[in-house]
Amino acid sequence: MTMQTADVLIMAQDVSKAFPLPEGNGTFTVLERINLSVCTDEVIALLGRSGSGKSTLLRILAGLIPPTSGTVTSSGKPVVGANPDVAMVFQSFALLPWATVQENVELGLKAQGVPRAERAARALKAIDMVGLDGFESAYPRELSGGMQQRVGFARAFVMEPKVLFMDEPFSALDVLTAENLRGEIDMLWQEDSFPADSILIVTHNIEEAVLLADRVIILGANPGHIRGEVKIDLPRPRERETERFKQLVDYIYTAMTNPQVEVVSPARRGTTGKLNPFPPLPMVRAGNMSGLLELIVERGGKEDLPYLGQLTNMSTDELLPIIDAAVLLGFATVEQGDIQVTEVGRAFAEADIEQSKALFRQQVLAHVPLIVTIQQKLQEKSNRAVRADLFLDMLEEYYPEEAALHQFETAVDWGRYAELFEYDATERRLTRDS
Ligand SMILES: Nc1ncnc2c1ncn2[C@@H]1O[C@H](COP(=O)(O)OP(=O)(O)OP(=O)(O)O)[C@@H](O)[C@H]1O
Ligand SMILES: [Mg+2]
Repeated sequence: MTMQTADVLIMAQDVSKAFPLPEGNGTFTVLERINLSVCTDEVIALLGRSGSGKSTLLRILAGLIPPTSGTVTSSGKPVVGANPDVAMVFQSFALLPWATVQENVELGLKAQGVPRAERAARALKAIDMVGLDGFESAYPRELSGGMQQRVGFARAFVMEPKVLFMDEPFSALDVLTAENLRGEIDMLWQEDSFPADSILIVTHNIEEAVLLADRVIILGANPGHIRGEVKIDLPRPRERETERFKQLVDYIYTAMTNPQVEVVSPARRGTTGKLNPFPPLPMVRAGNMSGLLELIVERGGKEDLPYLGQLTNMSTDELLPIIDAAVLLGFATVEQGDIQVTEVGRAFAEADIEQSKALFRQQVLAHVPLIVTIQQKLQEKSNRAVRADLFLDMLEEYYPEEAALHQFETAVDWGRYAELFEYDATERRLTRDS
């Protein structure tokens, strides 16, 4: 229907983004063929693991960086340079420390050449809206984190953007402050006095997404792509205690804990078309994996994932990589929002240290090509030592520099735990006795 297209504010079509890899090793694809529309009157939450390209996508839609291919339009016009329909709230607040609250809020208007009197009036209104009246001439350092982020909101509100972008706006705040501010933003949205037509919020927090959004879009990683969306068909204000709320949270949890499929899917590999022989390892310490498996085994070998999050007091972003690692190594499976420890996982959790290390060694050699490669190289050398750079160079054919280093570090941690090799960080050498 034509009415529907008239409602579209921002539209991304087949948007991909690649960054160059170090030393001319081709490119690293961060986003692949993203199709996404932001319509009037809706709140969209973008959910995805760390590194799935959420911030990059926001930056592209805001016109701060161009896509490598594909197009972005806003209010029907191609986006070239900063998108005037968008204002952004950042996780880090990003305030000017030497400017007062009011000066910080007026900044964007000043850049637009809005006359002084109008600037001041609009800024005061925005400051009022976020509950900071009386603090106009305070400096950021005099404010708590929560108040600083209120300034962050006022600075975006004052622009009266069509779409408000928020990149993890609450995640630098303590739990209670975050809860409080999130509630207020939600109230403003419900009151219809909200100074934007739509909201696009990036979050790691599944509950936050279900509390705030009309649609939750789930990004998969390597490279970032849209896996699907979940409509949140709940009346506002939302109540966490309702069955449907819990169901939706569980459903999304399940979706988020089954990325293994796409991680090994060759069609989605992230680089120059070459198949990556070293599929990404979740950055998790072997000891943490073991600890978590022990906990689940103690509780009968099966546990509801959201509950496990509560139980361990871990955020999704801390917990999910550990789960991923356990699944990757065959220690657990995930189904319907539950983690189930496998037989070998149970043996690993219950065995004494020596046996448990032997099992870890067995699983790592069966499932982690990078560690197998390291072990092979060490065996080939008569002095049983290999420089780290050899593997870093290998990895940099498939990963950006920092990611390559993380992959290496994880492999080292797992390999040490498995007693397959040792690593001398000063000499930057991997070694193995006899
Ligand atoms: N300018 C850049 N040059 C090279 N690589 C980049 C650049 N910007 C981002 N990346 C890479 O793109 C990937 C996605 O980054 P991005 O910050 O968009 O992820 P994210 O989903 O926002 O992660 P987080 O949840 O940690 O904020 C990462 O691997 C990152 O290293
Ligand atoms: Mg980000």
